[in-house]
Amino acid sequence: MSSFENKVQEALANPQNQGELPDADAVGTVGSPECGDMLRMWLKFTEKDGKRVIDRASFQAFGCQTAIAVASMATELLRGKTAEEAKLMSASELAGDLGALPPMKIHCGQLVEGALRNALDQSPGDPAPSGTAPASNTLAADIHKKPAGGIRIVPL
Ligand code: FES
Repeated sequence: MSSFENKVQEALANPQNQGELPDADAVGTVGSPECGDMLRMWLKFTEKDGKRVIDRASFQAFGCQTAIAVASMATELLRGKTAEEAKLMSASELAGDLGALPPMKIHCGQLVEGALRNALDQSPGDPAPSGTAPASNTLAADIHKKPAGGIRIVPL
């Protein structure tokens, strides 16, 4: 096993922040039409030193192990970041200690980045009204409708 695979296995043995955040301020969901994997991320903000920062982030992944490992890292790294700081984080930054993703796995990191951006887009600075979670029963149907032509990560 490569050291990357070892780190993914370590992260999977004890994934952080998995599952819905019931009182989240924002939620983002994206999918990759190519592999059919989906990822949803929840963000909860708090006030700290006069700034609005991410208090907690959580995720649910319907897909591969790499996406789960990256999301586990990312949700830890996001704590304490403002929305602006979080928006600037690339997929490789979100992967943290996992290191560079192998070429076949780059889109797994982009899935996490996409879910984060999707959530941040729905949280333009003020707490979102409750009930922001999209209806999940249409997720699987939606992803299969999207054409794969050049689009790798799509908001759902
Ligand atoms: Fe598609 Fe990892 S294989 S997200």
